[in-house]
Order: sequence, then structure tokens, then C-alpha cells
Amino acid sequence: MLTGKRLLSTSRCLLKSSTSYNYDFTGLISQTGLPGSVGNTPLLKLNNLSKQTGRNIFAKAEWMNPGGSVKDRAALFIIEQAEKKGLIKPGGTIVEGTAGNTGIGLAHVCRAKGYKCIIYMPNTQAPSKIQTLKLLGCEVNPVPVVPFTDPQNFNHQAKRRAESLENAYWTNQFDNLDNRQAHIESTGPEIWNQLKGKVDAFTCSLGTGGTWSGITRYLKTQDPNVKSFAAEPPGSCVYSYVKTGGKSLERSGGSFTEGIGQGRITNNVAQDIALADDAFLIPDSETIVMLYRLLAEEGLYIGGTGALNVVAAVKAAEKVPEGGNVVTILADSAHKYAERIFSKSWLESKDLYKELPEDLKKYAVLD
Ligand SMILES: Cc1ncc(COP(=O)(O)O)c(C=O)c1O
Repeated sequence: MLTGKRLLSTSRCLLKSSTSYNYDFTGLISQTGLPGSVGNTPLLKLNNLSKQTGRNIFAKAEWMNPGGSVKDRAALFIIEQAEKKGLIKPGGTIVEGTAGNTGIGLAHVCRAKGYKCIIYMPNTQAPSKIQTLKLLGCEVNPVPVVPFTDPQNFNHQAKRRAESLENAYWTNQFDNLDNRQAHIESTGPEIWNQLKGKVDAFTCSLGTGGTWSGITRYLKTQDPNVKSFAAEPPGSCVYSYVKTGGKSLERSGGSFTEGIGQGRITNNVAQDIALADDAFLIPDSETIVMLYRLLAEEGLYIGGTGALNVVAAVKAAEKVPEGGNVVTILADSAHKYAERIFSKSWLESKDLYKELPEDLKKYAVLD
């Protein structure tokens, strides 16, 4: 007769050999509740693109964070640094200017830690992001889009609001280096350990730049031969900045992707942008096709920035030896954007429907 222990190990073995399910439960307990569940995301090999390129393309499943995006990492780290520095006390208020995902991350952490949360955001963002923030108990202020130089820019409004309140902290994700530090201490080491130090190239797009800068800094500190590429949508100045060695901030056009495409060099970007080996400018036509391909071929339901990052990873693959490892970031899922990116009429209004290959058009299921 089998003992309980042997029965368990036998059934585990049987299950392990017949499914892809990961039976290693080590580290899956969070003693601190939601905050302890941020990070430690899986690194997924994208099988079809890896076969196509002859390189291993890996993507970090950041939508699996509790608030649904890579920005949970910065949100948690910034708040916990403010606590350590005594900049926020129990019952205080967190204020931020955010296109959405950082706000959602902050809102979750604020609920878990008992802080109030006030958000200022551009009024052009997907309505579901505003709704989610309200559902998470935030005060949300969608404001007209004006340049950073204008005092009415959403960031400056957030800063002034925090200054007007007792025991309030403006998290200042664009220029607060705790944002980048979150990735130096979590995402970078996770990638390094997951690939046992075998990383040839990294690429992702920049919003605040915290993710790109922190991971690039960490990986290049481990091994200066790791290449890092900035992946940019039309409308970003980072592409021309890298291409001209910091001489130009020129930018033109726009993109359907949300949360990336900077108009200035933020403090987080400024720290590490000299480490960029090159930059890629990815047109929306390539991003939308990849978004649909990831769904059709890999079963991944990914937002626009993740799809753009994978297009960039394929370009980065051309710059590393055959069999090399290329890593990128899947920042969030498609849920928040579904009404737009899977709507035939919305795609047509952006001139993107015609870009989809015939066999992928069936995924544009909304009118
Ligand atoms: C969906 C999405 N992708 C990418 C980014 C960029 O991340 P970072 O601000 O770390 O550059 C953001 C930032 O808000 C985002 O919301």
C-alpha cells in the first residue's frame, strides 16, 4: 500500500508529466496579503516567434500582478519607501498623476494599507480605467490634455493637490527614482534568475521609463554584454533622443498604445538612457498585427504596449546570435482596451483594420 507521502509524490509525478501546470508552489504564500503578491511573475517563452527567429523570445507576464500590470511594482515600492522615509503616516493620502495603471496599482496598495488615494489623469484614457479607479475607492480627476510645460498638466495638478493636504504624498512616478529602483530590486533580478544569467538582449517601451531603466541597469550591471533597446511608439521623443545621442527630442505622430510614448526625458529615463544600444520605432500597424498574432498563436490576451514590445523583441533577436535569449515585458492584458482594439469600426477609424491579415480578422469580433 502507498503511504500518504508516496501517494502525493506519485500523483505529482504523473500530473507533472502530462500537463504544463507548474507544481512548484515554493514562494506562493504572501504573509503580507496583497503587497506580498506583487512581482514574481512567470517568464513565458513565446514558442512561435522563437521558432520563427531562431532565438528564444521570453516575455514577463506582468498582467499577473494583483492590480493587473507592471506598474504594481513601482506603486508598492514608492509607497513603502515613503513609509520608510517618514513621508507618509498611517491614514494619509497618496496623490498621483497617472494614465491609469500606476493609479490602479496605487489604489490596491492604498486599500491594503489604509491610505486614501487621489488620481489626476488625462481625460483621453480608456473609460474603463477611470471606472476601475473609482471602484477601488479613489477620487479620480480626468483633466484636459496639455503639455508638461503648462501648469494645468495632470502631473502639476497632482503635485499641488498633495501640497494642499495634511499627511499627503505625491508619488511623482515620472521623476521619483524609487520607480526605477523597484525594477532594479525586483524585475531585473527575477529575469536574471529565471534565465540563470543567460540574457543576450532586453527591450521594452518607456512611459515613465522606470521599467526600462531599472531592468537595463540591473542586467548590464550583471553582464555588460547584455544589449538593451528602447522600443518606442510614434509620438515618443525617446527614439530620436537615442538615435541622435541625446541631441534631438523631435517627435511626430501618435499611437493607440496607452501609458508609453514620452514627450520629455524624465528623471527615471535620464539615469540610464546612455546605456541604450539602439532604439526601435514601432508603427501601430505592426503593433496591432502582433497583438492579434499573440492571441491567435500563443493564446495571450495582451494590451498594446506588450504587443509593441514583442515586435521590438523580434527586431532585437536579429542582433543576437542564433539560440540567444531575448527578454521583453507584457505590461498588461487587453481587458481595459478590448472595446477599442477588438472593434472593427474603431480599427477602421484608425486605418488599422486593413493591416490585419485575413486569417486574423475574425478576432475583431466587436462592431
Ligand atoms: C500598459 C503600460 N505599458 C507600459 C508602461 C510603461 O512603464 P514605465 O512607466 O515603467 O515606463 C505603462 C506605464 O504606465 C503602462 O501603463
